[in-house]
Amino acid sequence: MSLDETLAVTTAQEDEEYLFAFKQNMISCVPLVLKATIELGILKLLFESSAQLSSTQIASRLSIKNPGAGGTIDRILRLLASFSFLSCTLTQDKAGRPERMYGLGPLSKYYVSEEGASMAPWLRLIFDEVSLRSWFYLKDAVIQGEGDPFKLVNDATLFDYTGTDPRYNNHFNNSMKCMSTVFMGKIMDTYHGFENAKTVVDVGGGVGECLKLILSKHPHLRGINFDLPHVVKNGLSYPGN
Ligand SMILES: C[S@@+](CC[C@H](N)C(=O)[O-])C[C@H]1O[C@@H](n2cnc3c(N)ncnc32)[C@H](O)[C@@H]1O
Repeated sequence: MSLDETLAVTTAQEDEEYLFAFKQNMISCVPLVLKATIELGILKLLFESSAQLSSTQIASRLSIKNPGAGGTIDRILRLLASFSFLSCTLTQDKAGRPERMYGLGPLSKYYVSEEGASMAPWLRLIFDEVSLRSWFYLKDAVIQGEGDPFKLVNDATLFDYTGTDPRYNNHFNNSMKCMSTVFMGKIMDTYHGFENAKTVVDVGGGVGECLKLILSKHPHLRGINFDLPHVVKNGLSYPGN
């Protein structure tokens, strides 16, 4: 096929490929919509509600005065329901019109809180404006930079930049802490290398969450958490550290 030929979607296999390609174009909508839903307080509201809620009820309980909000919230929540973040039941309103009622779904438990195994801080970090901006310069980083779009945009590496932006630094450290809780917990279930050690040094240990988990399971250890000054100044303090 030449580049001048008009592309067509004709065979069943091309149908599949075309749909797959289409999904790749749209895939960033899901986390961005989820982020807005968290920021609006909708997940927390659904968590606190004993029953499913309609988009109109959600807008009202969040005291959103914009008359068009219910319609937009419904479109937002429909998307999240189709990706199993929410549950959705079709009912009728008082006038007999179809109405969708929403509740938390299987995946939403990972986004309701900001602590423990929550994914919310990580989502906020990945889709923070500071993180996103670099993606627009990936091509430029390949052509003219050192291959690091973050450095090209911010004139600093990620870890130097976090030292200059306390808001982003907090986001970064908190999201690392939440992810580490899960991964380190799993590693601790099967790894036995700490049993005969005396001292453990976590190099680039962030605010010390991994070390905290290790020391809580192996209290005989002495732990040293090594990281940059703007990270350790917010570090955790606990016995053995
Ligand atoms: C991907 S994070 C991992 C954090 C932590 N290990 C965790 O799992 O939560 C990498 C860490 O390395 C730290 N780091 C980067 N450069 C460093 C350096 N030159 N000296 C010490 N720490 C550094 C960063 O501040 C950051 O906390």
